[in-house]
Amino acid sequence: MCGIVGYVGRKCAQPILLEGLKRLEYRGYDSSGLAVIHHGQLLVHKCPGRISVLCDHLADDAVTASCQIGIAHTRWATHGAPTEENAHPHSDCKNRIAIVHNGIIENYSALKQLLIEKGHHFSSQTDSEVLAHLIEEFYYNNGTKSIEQAVQLALREVTGTYGLAVLCVDEPGKIVAARKGSPLIVGVGADEYIVASDASAIVEHTTNVVYLNDGELAVLNSDGMRTLTLDNVPVTKQVQQIEWSLEQIALNGFEHFMLKEICEQGEAIRNCLRGRLDKRENRIQLGGIAAISRELVKTRRLILTGCGTAWHAGLIGEYLFEDLARIPTEVEYASEFRYRNPIIDDGTTVIAISQSGETADTLAALREARQKGALALGVVNAVGSTIARETDAGVYLHVGPEIGVASTKAFTAQVVVLALMSLYLGRRRFMSETMLQHYIDALERIPEQMERVIQQSAAVKMVADQYADCDNWLLLGRGYNYPVALEGALKLKEISYIHSEGLPAAEMKHGPIALIHPGMPVVFIASRCSTYDKILGNIQEVKARGGTVIAVATEGDTEIGKFAEHVFYVPDAPAPLQPLLNVVPLQLLAYHAAVARGCNVDKPRNLAKSVTVE
Ligand code: M6R
Repeated sequence: MCGIVGYVGRKCAQPILLEGLKRLEYRGYDSSGLAVIHHGQLLVHKCPGRISVLCDHLADDAVTASCQIGIAHTRWATHGAPTEENAHPHSDCKNRIAIVHNGIIENYSALKQLLIEKGHHFSSQTDSEVLAHLIEEFYYNNGTKSIEQAVQLALREVTGTYGLAVLCVDEPGKIVAARKGSPLIVGVGADEYIVASDASAIVEHTTNVVYLNDGELAVLNSDGMRTLTLDNVPVTKQVQQIEWSLEQIALNGFEHFMLKEICEQGEAIRNCLRGRLDKRENRIQLGGIAAISRELVKTRRLILTGCGTAWHAGLIGEYLFEDLARIPTEVEYASEFRYRNPIIDDGTTVIAISQSGETADTLAALREARQKGALALGVVNAVGSTIARETDAGVYLHVGPEIGVASTKAFTAQVVVLALMSLYLGRRRFMSETMLQHYIDALERIPEQMERVIQQSAAVKMVADQYADCDNWLLLGRGYNYPVALEGALKLKEISYIHSEGLPAAEMKHGPIALIHPGMPVVFIASRCSTYDKILGNIQEVKARGGTVIAVATEGDTEIGKFAEHVFYVPDAPAPLQPLLNVVPLQLLAYHAAVARGCNVDKPRNLAKSVTVE
């Protein structure tokens, strides 16, 4: 979604702002812009298209480049087309105040009308522009004492969400930042502050950060920072450390972040497991839920919620919790959960699953669950994110930043964490020590097994190249492998724009079989498990209709090659952990198909990494 960067300090702001915008590019954008203050004048530059267009536009502008304070933005259009006028920063009527805004102002229409009646002139179709005029109204027409007071008063009139940074030429050394429902972090350097919507824009300069909470403002100038609430109550904030390093957000020789993140899954899962498998004591250690473990063990019902890939991980989680911990579990799309007045009775625990920890639908579902009295847990990657902070407890993924829009290592880590939680609860409820030992040993093997699957990338590429022109694919699996089929289909559609559907294999004969025609690629996830023979039957049904069968099968399976045109063999694992290995060839298949089709893998059309609007 949109990205914000602001800088105030003793350095020239422009390179820091532009570099920050480039680091935020992965979140999705369609236009960008920047505002600086130069000798009592606001200089605003905006361009539709890529950030490189803004960079080119600024290339010979020595005046803008010399300023030591500025705010910048990448926009992902919600209200109004991606044009220069609609790009941020937005200014007031006199061009003395500039704002960059993430989120949505829900009552912008009424506010705009009111401001027009008071004589304000608007130049964009965006909801965000009302903020510039509303702040102007309080600052210049209602005699507020300071720009931060004008921001406070303006934001009290607003319904909706915001991450906001404001500049005013009449207080030229100051940035006012505020947040509600849209992330905002302040990087604390030596005599400098960088405010950003995402740590990736900060990490190059400092790892010391302050996370703003909803309803808080930060007033930044090169001499210091003050934090306060909308009601002007001072707030003391802790400076925290970002875990990410610059290296983690660089390509390091890979052509795309998606490929890098697929390939680093072995190491990512090692990091995710680190310190959590206690072989000596034969137990799972999850510090993040230790404090609520008694309450959790008594849980009578679990609801897992998330969106997209996180929802698929939740679907595997449903199987895991029911299978390994014997707790009745449901999975809900976060966007549906919130609006259907869900029943949360005594003993219900809700687990919100999210890589970014900022997905608006998941956050809303979490808040709904908490309001109704559920114990709320998070399975989140981004440390300090809103979902992580609003849950009662949780388990972090610890796989480092995921930059590619298509979620890969976060998915496998989400499944690992859900497996760890199921085993943790299972052991406390009924699971034998021997059974737990079996799973701990199997989990330990997963990273190395994943690395073996990743080595088959070239073979997967050959298949992807051969079928990349086919516009319709089916992916089929049963049991634990049904969510894997869904996840493989999502990967394929979101980055290669191939229409693909994931289905429980047995459902095929209830309708979708009508789609199968000669040459259509049908991917079967056909592990050697209890439903293996049934899957072979489904494969025969596809072959009889001329479909091309691509199988993901277990190493050592000598049968499957007789039925499938192409087979990717993956190491054997207990059925609950098999998705961790089976999904890898599907991630690679989607990646190579997208490259073969000339798609922009890391920035697929119409998509953003973090969906912070409902
Ligand atoms: O950050 P989150 O895990 O909450 O994001 C949820 C989905 O938006 C995300 O998984 C999306 O489906 C990915 N693009 C899938 O690859």
